[in-house]
Amino acid sequence: MEGQVHPIDHPLVQHKLTLMRRKDCSTSNFRRLLQEISMLLAYEVTRDMPTTLHPIETPLAAMQAPLLDGKKIVLISILRAGSGILDGMLRILPSARVGHIGLYRDPKTLVAVEYYFKVPDHMTDRDVIVADPMLATGNSAIAAIQRIKNTRPRSLKVVCLLAAPEGIKAFHEHHPEIPIYTAAVDERLNEKGYILPGLGDAGDRLYGTK
Ligand code: URA
Repeated sequence: MEGQVHPIDHPLVQHKLTLMRRKDCSTSNFRRLLQEISMLLAYEVTRDMPTTLHPIETPLAAMQAPLLDGKKIVLISILRAGSGILDGMLRILPSARVGHIGLYRDPKTLVAVEYYFKVPDHMTDRDVIVADPMLATGNSAIAAIQRIKNTRPRSLKVVCLLAAPEGIKAFHEHHPEIPIYTAAVDERLNEKGYILPGLGDAGDRLYGTK
C-alpha cells in the first residue's frame, strides 16, 4: 500500500505522549517517557515482522516454535533525538544492529545536511526501522531514507513520535511506499518548521541543552 501512516493510538502511548508534551516535564522525565513510549512503538512497528518455525525442546516436549525471520533487525537513529527512541527500542530488540545518520537542519533553508553515516554490513538481508522523533518538514527523514535506500535493505519503516501533515505529505511524495508509524499527527508547522502544538525541540528536551 502507498502512503501508509500508522497512528499508534494505544492509551498508554497517548498518556505518555501527553506527559511529554507538557512544558513543565523535566529532562529526566522526558527521557524516561521517551524510552517507555519507544518500547511500545517497537511493539507496534514489529507487529508484521515475518517469523519462521524452528525445532526446539521444552523441558517436556519437542516442538516447532516461531523466531523472527532472517538477519538481525537494524535500528537507525537520525541524530541526535533519534537516539532517544533507539534506547527504548533496544530494550525490546536487544540484539538489533544499530546505524546512525547525522543530519542537521540548516536554520535558514530547513534543508537537511548530512555529516555522518554508518550502518551495519549486509543491509540487503535486513529489515530496517529508522527512528526520527519529529517528522516536521520531513526533510531529514526524506534525505535519510534516500541514503538508506541506496544500501537496498529488505524492508524499511520510519517510526516517529509526532508528525506534521506537511511532513507526511512531503515524505510520501518522495517515498510513497515507506510506512510511517507515529504516536500522533499534529495540526501543522509554524514558520520556523516546528510542529504545533508539538512538544518543542525534541533533542533539547531529551538532553537538556536549552
Ligand atoms: N524538530 C523538533 O525537535 N521539534 C519540532 O517541532 C520540529 C523539528
